[in-house]
Amino acid sequence: MDGNKGHAHEQVSCPDTYSLSIALLKENLNQKNLATYGQAIAHQTHLDKQFQKTLKDLSALEFALDQAAILAITDKKGTIIDVNDKFCELSQYSRQELIDQNHRLIKSGYHPPEFFKEFWATLKTGRVWKGEIKNRAKDGTYYWVNTTVVPFLDEEGEPYQYLAIRFDITERKRAEEALRQAELVSRQQAQELELALDKLKQTQIQLVQSEKMSSVGQLVAGIAHEINNPVNFIYGNLDCASEYVQSLLNLLGVYQQHCPVDVPEIQAALDEYELDFLVEDLPKMVASMQLGANRIREIVLSLRNFSRLDEAKMNPVDIHQGIDTTLLILRNRFKAKAAYPEITLVKEYGNLPPVVCYASQLNQVFMNIISNALDALEDQPLPRRIEISTFLARGDEPLWDGQCLISSCPFAVILIANNGSSIPVEVQKHLFDPFFTTKPVGKGTGLGLSIAHHIVVEKHQGHLICISKPGEGVKFAIAIPLMQAE
Ligand SMILES: Nc1ncnc2c1ncn2[C@@H]1O[C@H](COP(=O)(O)OP(=O)(O)OP(=O)(O)O)[C@@H](O)[C@H]1O
Ligand SMILES: [Mg+2]
Repeated sequence: MDGNKGHAHEQVSCPDTYSLSIALLKENLNQKNLATYGQAIAHQTHLDKQFQKTLKDLSALEFALDQAAILAITDKKGTIIDVNDKFCELSQYSRQELIDQNHRLIKSGYHPPEFFKEFWATLKTGRVWKGEIKNRAKDGTYYWVNTTVVPFLDEEGEPYQYLAIRFDITERKRAEEALRQAELVSRQQAQELELALDKLKQTQIQLVQSEKMSSVGQLVAGIAHEINNPVNFIYGNLDCASEYVQSLLNLLGVYQQHCPVDVPEIQAALDEYELDFLVEDLPKMVASMQLGANRIREIVLSLRNFSRLDEAKMNPVDIHQGIDTTLLILRNRFKAKAAYPEITLVKEYGNLPPVVCYASQLNQVFMNIISNALDALEDQPLPRRIEISTFLARGDEPLWDGQCLISSCPFAVILIANNGSSIPVEVQKHLFDPFFTTKPVGKGTGLGLSIAHHIVVEKHQGHLICISKPGEGVKFAIAIPLMQAE
């Protein structure tokens, strides 16, 4: 490579030494100092040999470099002055096509402008630049080169040429890229696997819970069914029994009026059975039996309503009935216990049309949230209160904390609040996580709210949020669209 010689020759001081030797020679000849002349000749021969050796070494170095690297020499503007065969081979351009061209010819467009700014800034200050560059060959394919650019400096220390020494690293880059891709794919696969595992966990929770609920539901429905028939016998006959008792008592009155008692045995029996009390108490007893039977009938109806095993599809239902049934089942927990007084229940039901939903699943949601409220109040000081209110939301107005429910149809909103301690923000973040519980081992499984969330959000496209600020207790808001998309 011819251009490479420029820099190498600059380093050799031989022409100066040569003229010095000639001057010496002349001076010595004038003085006819043959001995000195002989020495000068010897010295000159020695210098010549050294010069030849340096030239040979340089040429060997150039050959070695030429064999090993991709070389190019450019002027200070980046115009190519010379290239070696390896450069032509890799770039697929001939030497003629490259000479006098700017290096931009092989620019790939991969590197940002800042990259070349830094490149030129380094070279212009006379420093060596090292880095990896992606270039484009004549056929449009890309190759990577590990590059070292050395500036050649003039007497003022300004660069007047650059020597670029490059090594092809395309294969290494390809391998690195393949590795990166493989890493990306395996990271994606790991993420997918994690998601699948999460889903599996969720499904397992639901399976366990729905199995539990369905066996509870079956049990409840079975008992309700079994009790329903005998209760109906009692309830159905009590009206008649009440009538018969009344008729018998009337008849007894008529007898007493028209046939006064003068038989001592009858008088004794009347005294013994306290007829007056019996006549007065019997109708009351029958009335209270009617009340009790009616209550049992209502409970049985509610239990059947709660289990709703027959409903595998969505139906329009009265949400208030679902809440009331749940409250009926939990009624015992509202009662005063030991040192703790009764929990007051405040209901403020709005005007709600029937809501299309899975009724038994929504009952489960009410059950979980009201149970949690009751748990939270368990050891709270006075006065303990649970408030349940409902209202209809149009679907586009701000509801709570400025949040908006955007929907094409209105929502039924159910608020369940208790005046216990508020929930710390850190705990609030995890309320709906499966298995998250702050209750002692054996008391809570941490599934209640995660299942409620799944039912409300995924099964009904609704919203379930918890609002709890310090000193303001805890409020759960459930919003269910009145209609479900097909
Ligand atoms: N009304 C509330 N007041 C205070 N904390 C509550 C209330 N509701 C829920 N939490 C908190 O949320 C946690 C999770 O509730 P979640 O219903 O999911 O599980 P759990 O009640 O602990 O157990 P499980 O319902 O499975 O028996 C509770 O452990 C409790 O810390
Ligand atoms: Mg719970």
